[in-house]
Amino acid sequence: MPDNSLGLALLVVTVLVALGLLGWAVYCFARWYRADAETRVSLRQARRMRWGWKRLAPMLGLAVKDATPTVLQQYGPQEPPTKPHVLVPRLHTRADALPQVGLSAWQEAGEGLCDAWGMRRIRITQPKPGVIVARGFRREPLEAVIRSPLLGADGSPACRPGQFVSTDDVLLGLDEDGTPIVLNLAYSAHALIAGATRSGKSITVNTLLAYASLMRDVRLIVIDPNLAAVAPWWRTAYKVSDAIHPDEPTEILRWVREEMQRRERLFWSGRTDRISEFSPELPLLLVVIDEVANYTRHPDRKARERFEAELLAIASQGAKFGVRLWLLTQKPSADVLTTAVRTNLSARICHRVDTIEDFLHLFPDGRDLDITAADRTMPQGVSIASVGDMRTPIRLRSVYLPTEACWQINDLMCASGLKVRELPASIDLDKAA
Ligand SMILES: Nc1ncnc2c1ncn2[C@@H]1O[C@H](COP(=O)(O)OP(=O)(O)OP(=O)(O)O)[C@@H](O)[C@H]1O
Ligand SMILES: [Mg+2]
Repeated sequence: MPDNSLGLALLVVTVLVALGLLGWAVYCFARWYRADAETRVSLRQARRMRWGWKRLAPMLGLAVKDATPTVLQQYGPQEPPTKPHVLVPRLHTRADALPQVGLSAWQEAGEGLCDAWGMRRIRITQPKPGVIVARGFRREPLEAVIRSPLLGADGSPACRPGQFVSTDDVLLGLDEDGTPIVLNLAYSAHALIAGATRSGKSITVNTLLAYASLMRDVRLIVIDPNLAAVAPWWRTAYKVSDAIHPDEPTEILRWVREEMQRRERLFWSGRTDRISEFSPELPLLLVVIDEVANYTRHPDRKARERFEAELLAIASQGAKFGVRLWLLTQKPSADVLTTAVRTNLSARICHRVDTIEDFLHLFPDGRDLDITAADRTMPQGVSIASVGDMRTPIRLRSVYLPTEACWQINDLMCASGLKVRELPASIDLDKAA
């Protein structure tokens, strides 16, 4: 009986091996049969390369001899030395199936593929030789409104105070391929957001302010002459100002600079030259100034210069002391922000602007890019952005966090006892919301 079953098993294995070999032969033949003349040459060549590899590899020094004597060989009775075992690296060959259909051929066929496959757009890339990736988009990520992860399906807040820390990624939006673009406050530096009126600056910054408010190791400082961006955070931010005259904001910036000086002592005790870890005791200071031109172009020259001096000190020195400066402006020109300040604002987000010069103020090599923000058709909420360690700027569709939702998030914070000041009697709630 056991003999019988062993025989049966052997038979099954033999049949399976034979079938496998047959399948392989059929596959090789089919590949050969369907290939064009050029590919057949490649297939033949690939086979020659594989067959000759064991001989060629040692000749080129691409092999090792495995001749380590075993214990028995070394100390046992002397036997004639065995021939060393030669190990060669494994070689895989693949004849490019269709040598004439390369990247450019696919790219040219893109429109036809879009129509045939019912896609809005197709993006063809070649991650490595011999592989083409065609990515079809049924919807344009730049056209869709992106709901904030801070809100639930019904639009009400789905977050809680203290939920985040400064090292958490903040989802700013999606690029044109639908890839999430995130910002990390702890690891990033200062930033500049520009854009014509109603282009979406405040909505973009709403996301930043909301996340920062929910971070337990971040203190928020908001200066905003238009009140729109600061109003929802008025009750909980560490410092706020809606002054039109630069003096009050200058006072706040001076406090930030004094705090920087206090922190300088930590460099001695911490044996470091940069604060990179934050806590409720040593928080990251996020300073957001909306419509900064209101202060830097204020008619009171002396006051304007005092403001600019503080601003420059923070822009050039603040990052290593744990300060992150975010400036918003409609016009990013040199009379609004000096080059000295601007060069320190390394993250750039440019919503729709009126002129190419405005765009070039944010992206000096913008003429070489194939994207621009000086484009009247650019929708609200879309920008050209370079944040984090991006090598080239991308198109960004910002997450849509409406100001009403910011108020609701702030209500939650106040209910958890985080309120530090009352709303001023002069704030017209309906207008601000
Ligand atoms: N990411 C977005 N998704 C959807 N809609 C947006 C987005 N960003 C902006 N919008 C729309 O555009 C409007 C204007 O945006 P926002 O208030 O942010 O402009 P702004 O650049 O701050 O303008 P201003 O310079 O006048 O303050 C919003 O009320 C909203 O309707
Ligand atoms: Mg605004």
